[in-house]
Amino acid sequence: MILVTGGAGFIGSNFVLDWLAEHEEGLVNLDALTYAGNLQNLASLAGQTARHFFVQGDIGDASVAALLRTHAIRAVVNFAAESHVDRSIHAPAAFIETNVVGTFRLLESVRAYWHALDAERKAAFRFLHVSTDEVYGSLGATDPAFTETHAVAPNSPYSASKAASDHLVRAYHHTYGLPVLTTNCSNNYGPYHFPEKLIPLCIHNALAGKPLPIYGDGLQVRDWLYVKDHCSAIRRVLAAGRVGEVYNIGGNQEKTNLDTIHTLCDTLDRLQPRADGVSYRTQMVFVTDRPGHDRRYAIDAAKIRAELGWVPAETFETGLEKTVQWYLAHQGWVQNVTSGAYRHWIGLQYADQDRPP
Ligand code: NAD
Ligand code: TYD
Repeated sequence: MILVTGGAGFIGSNFVLDWLAEHEEGLVNLDALTYAGNLQNLASLAGQTARHFFVQGDIGDASVAALLRTHAIRAVVNFAAESHVDRSIHAPAAFIETNVVGTFRLLESVRAYWHALDAERKAAFRFLHVSTDEVYGSLGATDPAFTETHAVAPNSPYSASKAASDHLVRAYHHTYGLPVLTTNCSNNYGPYHFPEKLIPLCIHNALAGKPLPIYGDGLQVRDWLYVKDHCSAIRRVLAAGRVGEVYNIGGNQEKTNLDTIHTLCDTLDRLQPRADGVSYRTQMVFVTDRPGHDRRYAIDAAKIRAELGWVPAETFETGLEKTVQWYLAHQGWVQNVTSGAYRHWIGLQYADQDRPP
């Protein structure tokens, strides 16, 4: 079996569903079920307990060592993290606790387990750490996209905590020989995306008749990748990536936030037009910018393409269409995750705006 951490979150749950659809091999899913973790994402796996073994727990807990032994884990895929930049600005401590200290403790549990394996299993073992392009910092408008050798220069508490975890993973390979792989991916979107992030927040607000909040001038650039393409890249790196290497993952789909929201509104106008026939674009509102807001991210994915033959299946337009269709068909899921705690966050984050969403 493999161990997936954070497998009840956005990308982790997509990975778990895709893995079990495509592999005979089962997995252990370790997730603390923070506000971002949701077992409803995995509801379709009900009854598959032999292949999907869910454990509620913290990656930093010492009991992880026993979990590795009990299930004779052959690989770990580490998604577990605090993941939202705006939350890291309001309350950074949880990001240090999980992303830095938690990853360190997980590495310690894995190192002890790996050390005791026989030579063959030791050589075959993998620890794949899922990270972000945000560790590289911000690009100027005409700078080349991030390669794996780009200097690490994180700007938010979130990206700094992820960069720290990447460094720890690297150090465990160089110092102890732990067979690690690291992936740094661009912004994801797709099913089960928690509606605190730009795309699902705007789908939710658009349908609820609320403002679509655009930070600053809306000309910040993000390089969007459909979540299923991220999952296929991780499977490819796990299967064939060279130990100790870093692989950037991205779909070469750079968009300004304004372009992203325009395309989103146009897609909604087509698939679920407003009753009054007016475009959802009229709900866009410019709000105060995020402090320290990174201007541009862009991934150069030449290495994973050349070495591992990975290419994404979706463009931004095809992926966004699927995403909007998924949200329209899963309004019950959205209602469940936008309950009390969610409202508290939205109140906090958008409270000082002229027209809170
Ligand atoms: P998410 O916030 O949706 O999910 C995180 C999951 O981790 C949740 O299920 C949560 O319950 C769990 N978790 C949090 N702390 C934990 C702990 N201490 N122990 C065990 N489980 C814990 O995040 P996501 O968007 O799915 O991101 C997953 C990973 O991918 C993160 O490491 C993130 O940095 C990375 N990543 C995300 C993106 C993106 O666009 N979302 C892009 C690149 C990389
Ligand atoms: P987000 O989805 O939070 O991802 P990240 O900050 O990790 O890139 O934000 C994507 C972009 O959208 C980013 O430039 C911030 C911007 N944004 C808004 O303009 N309004 C919002 O309400 C949110 C949540 C984000």
